[in-house]
Amino acid sequence: MSIFSKLFGKKSPPLDPIDFGYFGADMHSHLLPGIDDGSKSMEESMGMILKFSRMGYRKLFMTPHIMEDYYRNTPEIIHGKLEEVRKEVKEFGMEIELGAAAEYYYDETLIDKVKGKELLTFGDNYVLFEYAFGAEPQRITSLIFEMKTNGYRPVLAHYERYPYYHNQPEKIQEYRDNGVLIQLNLLSLCGHYGPFVEKQAKYLVDNGLIDFVGSDCHRIEHLQILEKNASNPYFHKLKELNLLNQSL
Ligand SMILES: [Fe+2]
Repeated sequence: MSIFSKLFGKKSPPLDPIDFGYFGADMHSHLLPGIDDGSKSMEESMGMILKFSRMGYRKLFMTPHIMEDYYRNTPEIIHGKLEEVRKEVKEFGMEIELGAAAEYYYDETLIDKVKGKELLTFGDNYVLFEYAFGAEPQRITSLIFEMKTNGYRPVLAHYERYPYYHNQPEKIQEYRDNGVLIQLNLLSLCGHYGPFVEKQAKYLVDNGLIDFVGSDCHRIEHLQILEKNASNPYFHKLKELNLLNQSL
């Protein structure tokens, strides 16, 4: 860097856009039509899947919400929708592999579903679960214990988005030591959920505390934001981590 650049803070040139195909599989999205707050129609689902395919993704695990108070999805409903979408994708001639699991909201019904071994999983028995954003839930240790005892591998969704963990750097180590895998939303690195979430997301990347990345795509705009931010240095940094997405 020249003295002039040092004095006047000239910015370094932008990085190349990353190829999202590097991640291989996306494991968190709301693309199944009409069963949660994601895609509203088959047409919308197809538009999003086509976009993922053009961005280089080879596989998508779609994870509709299962939430007792809002989205009472069951494995039957989810698999039924998956088959409809697969059929449409095949007719369209798209080369992309599709699977489905769920994003389990931690409410009073979840532990019974775990004990009944009725959870939908992806990859190597991974279960995606999420918390309320307002306050840290109770009895987390029991939930995780039950998941592991029943042979599941818990993956906590968008850890960076829980405000109650923002100033507790020691908390994530507890999770990881307890066998919980951590998923980051790519959109968090783009400032999509605000500056505090972005700061936490960058902390996780800088410290190598992430196991999976996901789009958490609900609408095509989410993919457009990712594309627009493809030169984000933190997307490049993710390549230095041993993400499990490629193993899916
Ligand atoms: Fe989600």
